[in-house]
Amino acid sequence: MTTREQRGVFGEVADDYDRVRPGYPGQLVEDVLAAAGPGPVLEVGAGTGKATVAFAARGAEITCVEPDPRMAELLRRKLPEVPIVVSTFEDWTPDRAYGLLISGQAWHWVQATKRTGLAFRALAPGGLFAPFWNAYLTVDPHLQAALAEVDARHGLAPDTPHSYLRAGFPELGAFDDEWESLALAPEQFPERNHRRYHSERAFSTADYRALLLSISKYRILPPPLLEAALDDTTSVVDAHGGTIQFEIITDVVLARRA
Ligand SMILES: C[S@@+](CC[C@H](N)C(=O)[O-])C[C@H]1O[C@@H](n2cnc3c(N)ncnc32)[C@H](O)[C@@H]1O
Repeated sequence: MTTREQRGVFGEVADDYDRVRPGYPGQLVEDVLAAAGPGPVLEVGAGTGKATVAFAARGAEITCVEPDPRMAELLRRKLPEVPIVVSTFEDWTPDRAYGLLISGQAWHWVQATKRTGLAFRALAPGGLFAPFWNAYLTVDPHLQAALAEVDARHGLAPDTPHSYLRAGFPELGAFDDEWESLALAPEQFPERNHRRYHSERAFSTADYRALLLSISKYRILPPPLLEAALDDTTSVVDAHGGTIQFEIITDVVLARRA
């Protein structure tokens, strides 16, 4: 990547990304592997391996495609035996037919007009396409309201990690936009399911600052605006006890290739 694209900023903070970003529930990993059955696994946008480690620990034979060499290097240090291709998914040609394609928080970075066709091409007939995403729900309504004001002041609303409040969050339909953007052709992916997992995570003010700094929406802000937004956000978290607590919803789509 020669220009600083939004999808290429994660490697600038690879260590902090790996340290503070939540991973994925073990039950998700088990359910996805059980639904896929045996066969090689392809991971698109593997990053520092937050999902890779969990799938590899359960015996999956994984090949990773990750375009950012800084993210790939960290993943390589954790799992030296896992093949990693440093490439975008768009620029990579599958070396075989995969039984499962996983992608954690990364599928939306693959070119929208190409990605469904590329997933179809990479999978064997009957193979499973399983992209997944984490959504953050703030537990404390007072803290969430105060942070919403900060976001409005800095032009960050909507869609920061603290944009959504746990109370009243719809049980279904929260990922409608993501489902829409998947645009799975029924003749290519005739069987489609959806599962949701819940977990909890609390961040100290310092770790929350690092988390926000690992999010592309923040990283692409001009430095003075970024600092001002982070300073305001972290003073509000400090004023509410120095911790922000989330319920994390993890949604996975399970789409079977024809
Ligand atoms: C938010 S990170 C997710 C990383 C990891 N899957 C995780 O769960 O932590 C998004 C990742 O997608 C990668 N990425 C961006 N564009 C991509 C593309 N076109 N093809 C494959 N991966 C891409 C980025 O380099 C980054 O590592």
